[in-house]
Amino acid sequence: MGLLLSVSPVLLFQSWIPGAAAQSTHFNLTAIGAANGRSTIECWQIKRPFDVSTDPGTAGSKALPLGDLTNLTLSILPPKFDGGLHNAPFVQFVAFTSGVAVVSLPDSNEQATIYGGKYGLIIAADVASVSAKGHITRYPSDDSTIALQIRIEGGVPPTYKILHKGACRWKELSGL
Ligand SMILES: *[C@@H]1O[C@H](CO)[C@@H](O)[C@H](O)[C@H]1NC(C)=O
Ligand SMILES: *[C@@H]1O[C@H](CO)[C@@H](O)[C@H](O)[C@H]1NC(C)=O
Repeated sequence: MGLLLSVSPVLLFQSWIPGAAAQSTHFNLTAIGAANGRSTIECWQIKRPFDVSTDPGTAGSKALPLGDLTNLTLSILPPKFDGGLHNAPFVQFVAFTSGVAVVSLPDSNEQATIYGGKYGLIIAADVASVSAKGHITRYPSDDSTIALQIRIEGGVPPTYKILHKGACRWKELSGL
């Protein structure tokens, strides 16, 4: 009975905040994927939940290992740059740190706008072997857009599930 009394306030507290326990345990990101030879825009959820870091300097904070990487390229896209229709050169994360990227598809109206910064990490996986045409990326900002292209070792993204077609929405990103 003593134990029950001591834990129940915590359980009650969590149940008063809708979704408090489940919220933010998983990372979601917009992905340029491919299906049936065409590029897609999807919202992916990484299946592995956030860890609690034990590393010096970040101990106690949320951390999510996203796998091994082989190449890091810093790209500076000029203002109003049009990247044109292209395939992802490799399966890679792209971390936009500033500016704006607008991704669209050649055969659909689906579009994703990614702002550099906190919610700026996407994954681009529509390499030529899985997508015939690829996707279009434009950078409409008046300033340059900075992107880190982070190539994934072996071309295999972390295990994910598709939450839905189209870019991740605010409620899938705002838990960060
Ligand atoms: C990393 O990527 C850049 C840009 O594609 C390329 O020039 C370089 O050779 C690559 N390095 C390795 C080790 O693959
Ligand atoms: C990821 O999406 C799920 C489902 O919508 C949501 O509960 C969770 O808070 C999202 N994660 C982040 C970090 O926003």
